Amino acid sequence: MDIVLVIPEDSIILDLGTGHGLVLIKFASKISSEGHVTGIDLWKIGINPIIVLKHTTAFTGKNLENRSDLKTADMIELPFENKKYDFVTASMAIHNIKPKQNRYKALDEATRVLKTEGLLIY
Ligand SMILES: C[S@@+](CC[C@H](N)C(=O)[O-])C[C@H]1O[C@@H](n2cnc3c(N)ncnc32)[C@H](O)[C@@H]1O
Repeated sequence: MDIVLVIPEDSIILDLGTGHGLVLIKFASKISSEGHVTGIDLWKIGINPIIVLKHTTAFTGKNLENRSDLKTADMIELPFENKKYDFVTASMAIHNIKPKQNRYKALDEATRVLKTEGLLIY
């Protein structure tokens, strides 16, 4: 069975542990300028978030900077209000967090910032 994910063009999206931005790029290219994708990361492993956004533009041929931004933040304590996002994504990111209690914290934070009908994809 195929699962089709419908992403409305005005979706407000948070990508946890963005890294080089592959998921952020994918989602940013699906939405219009009425939507937005924020990518957060600790950026501790030599990834420069400014370069990520420049690659994003080069990679897609679209200027996605008007619908995306990058912040330095920790998944276990998100600096965002409750029920803000339509989608929260975390590709290959939560499993890295140690100890285990902090992985639960990251999941609690992800669900806290999701709208009631929002979807966590990880
Ligand atoms: C394996 S990479 C995945 C990158 C990207 N999501 C992907 O799918 O290509 C994991 C990322 O999670 C980030 N990360 C790990 N712990 C984090 C935390 N507590 N808060 C925010 N980002 C974190 C790392 O810095 C790294 O960029």
